[in-house]
Amino acid sequence: MIKVKENYSIKELHTFRMPVYARWFVEYETVDELRSLLQSDLLKQNKFLPIGGGSNLLFVRERYEGVLLHSAIKGISILQETESEVVVKVGAGIVWDDFVAYCVSQGWGGAENLSYIPGEVGASAVQNIGAYGVEVKDIIHEVETVEIATGATRVFQNPECEYGYRSSIFKHELKGKYIVTAVSYRLQKTPTLHLDYGNLRNSLPEGDITLADVREAVIGIRRSKLPEPDECGSAGSFFMNPVIPVEQYERLKTTYPDMPHYVVDETHVKVPAGWLIDRCGWKGKSVGGAAVYEKQCLVLVNKHNALPSDVVTLAEMIRQSVQETYGITINPEVNYIE
Ligand code: EPU
Repeated sequence: MIKVKENYSIKELHTFRMPVYARWFVEYETVDELRSLLQSDLLKQNKFLPIGGGSNLLFVRERYEGVLLHSAIKGISILQETESEVVVKVGAGIVWDDFVAYCVSQGWGGAENLSYIPGEVGASAVQNIGAYGVEVKDIIHEVETVEIATGATRVFQNPECEYGYRSSIFKHELKGKYIVTAVSYRLQKTPTLHLDYGNLRNSLPEGDITLADVREAVIGIRRSKLPEPDECGSAGSFFMNPVIPVEQYERLKTTYPDMPHYVVDETHVKVPAGWLIDRCGWKGKSVGGAAVYEKQCLVLVNKHNALPSDVVTLAEMIRQSVQETYGITINPEVNYIE
């Protein structure tokens, strides 16, 4: 059934938990309902934005003058199964971490390092969520969508999604053109575990490691570094880790020998934005009700009744200070919504 709400508080529908209202909030449960909505005057005459769990959004004003369109398409079904792997189709409106928990309970490997990431399945395929050495592109088989202009369905195979670090064709060339309705993931029945990122291995028990052990360790690390969504509003990492030329990194290293980095390819390295922000002295600093999270500077939090403008100002001040100190441009991972 289609639900339509007017002048609707979306405080609980985005993880920054700021006092924001939407002119309309509309929810659909099937692809046909989405198609009929796309034909409706409401969507033809107003701007609209498909949203998932609202975990990567920054509403820059206290009112969104358009339609927020949320998929409540559910369902998990097996598309293919062999002795070694399974391909499962998952509705865009399923909560991402519920799906990860389901995979772990079935003994299917591939998603466990991505445990406890907020958000929903549809957005996972747009954002290419990643953590602890795994990105969702590593397990995406195909992405089912509806074209906004025509209502036609289109299935994108993994390579067609042009995945990169926190990026996909849906965020760039095809931005605003397709809505994800379901994602199929390819999972392993005899999983290869990825335990070499950061302190993951140290958080695991000795001996044979199960998918459930990995999930538990990842949840433990995330809980220790990132704010609990119910306790303090945030959108996870606010900035992406900048990718810079190796020569620039080598020059910076002479002044900042302890600057961490990850090799991206022969000519580029990635530098943790959290480290840069930390070293610029931002830890715990605030603007109005918005603050830099004490345990992880990459996260901006709604510490105390923050307004969208507080977060926008704080983010801009941080961006400028990193630019001036290191000559490195950091860009937001969160999507700014006008
Ligand atoms: N660091 C600091 N100070 C800080 C934060 C980080 O010095 O305040 C240093 C750490 O000591 C470490 C390095 O920066 O040497 C990297 O930190 P961390 O391993 O915590 O990871 P990250 O690069 O800050 C990325 C993702 C996270 C993901 C983790 C683990 C991005 C933008 N963020 O963070 O993703 O959970 O790696 O894989 O790539 C998210 O996207 O919302 C998110 C939480």
